[in-house]
Amino acid sequence: MRFLPHLIFLGTLVSSALAWDEAGHEIVATIAQIHLHPSALPTICSILNDTSPSPGKPLCHLASVATWADSVRLEKRWSAPLHFVGAVDDHPSKTCLFPGKQGWEQNRNILNGMRNVTNLLGDFVKKQRGGIIVREDMELANEALKFLIHFLGDLHQPLHLTGRNRGGNDVKVLFNGNQTNLHKVWDKFLVEKAIRTTPPKYNYPLADKRVEYSLRGTYYDRYIRQIVAEGILDSWKHEIPDWLSCPRPKISKDAPLAQMTERQSILSWAQWLVPDNDPSKGTDDAVLCPYTWAKKIHPLNCELAWPKELDQEPRQRSVEIETGRMFPRSDFEELELDTPKYAGVIAERKLVEMMLAQGGVRLANALNSLFAEDVV
Ligand SMILES: *[C@@H]1O[C@H](CO)[C@@H](O)[C@H](O)[C@H]1NC(C)=O
Ligand SMILES: *[C@@H]1O[C@H](CO)[C@@H](O)[C@H](O)[C@H]1NC(C)=O
Ligand SMILES: *[C@@H]1O[C@H](CO)[C@@H](O)[C@H](O)[C@H]1NC(C)=O
Repeated sequence: MRFLPHLIFLGTLVSSALAWDEAGHEIVATIAQIHLHPSALPTICSILNDTSPSPGKPLCHLASVATWADSVRLEKRWSAPLHFVGAVDDHPSKTCLFPGKQGWEQNRNILNGMRNVTNLLGDFVKKQRGGIIVREDMELANEALKFLIHFLGDLHQPLHLTGRNRGGNDVKVLFNGNQTNLHKVWDKFLVEKAIRTTPPKYNYPLADKRVEYSLRGTYYDRYIRQIVAEGILDSWKHEIPDWLSCPRPKISKDAPLAQMTERQSILSWAQWLVPDNDPSKGTDDAVLCPYTWAKKIHPLNCELAWPKELDQEPRQRSVEIETGRMFPRSDFEELELDTPKYAGVIAERKLVEMMLAQGGVRLANALNSLFAEDVV
């Protein structure tokens, strides 16, 4: 979930910290894996070119490629802007616009990146049904699938949806006394703390075999068990249909239904009906609607993710003069965020867990709709 890969390795301290960064993406991917339709997995694994399972385990695992997209950011420079989106007029904590009158900062962003790779995978499936797959198709689908798995994670990190100070990467703060930045608090520290404080009972397997089957023996297995048991199977159970629903473009009664036998043609046809000034145009369809999903998550930045204290006197004066970076003035301590008022409220409202769960079930739904037989 980082904006830029780490360039300097300072021994074990830093490399173990890197491992934590990966947890968010791998948790989203594992929650998706738990919700995959069994008939979707063979195609997914053949695209991932990974079909040598351990006995009693799934054929392959989405989590094993969940952070690939971060590792190729330097090599594939064109992909760097696809990890986030920022609106020109957006300025949390005071102003949250998604987007405002001036639109997005960059034309290429996570919303159309997700659409691009999903369409590529849809084309691949069509070609495969026609039986004419060549090596280049396999390679393109492989890359597209790894990006899709990653982008679903990034879309559910609220600071990936604002461009202010590079999504908070340039905002220095403290977490439990450790110097870090606001972006990383969400990428890493909140997830790390939640994993550390998972109740010990989740060290033991759940009765639900679908969950255990998809776990990989990682340090965050217990956190996934908690998210599934308390959230997905319990308190959010009735919200999940809403999480998955995308506002379908209305199709008029006179529509030429006879021509709409294939899903793909319905989608492209329905796009005409979306007004040109609708920001969801070109990215959202009936199954995958990154704009609609992100628009609901984005207000969290003004509500609480971007601490209001950073924009208040006396800190405010230290901020963003010329460089656009928020360095605290030397006579002020950086703002501590591992406090009841910040990290405590986020934990109480289960916001990180909810974002990871939404990312996971939405990813599973998109993959099922692309690859599973007899669903949708
Ligand atoms: C699949 O993986 C094998 C072994 O790692 C490799 O030799 C082969 O080139 C890969 N195929 C594709 C299409 O990437
Ligand atoms: C779409 O995704 C493919 C596969 O990753 C990539 O090669 C291509 O550059 C992407 N195009 C855009 C416009 O993002
Ligand atoms: C940094 O955080 C770690 C764990 O997150 C904690 O053990 C350590 O005490 C913190 N460092 C400081 C200086 O507070």
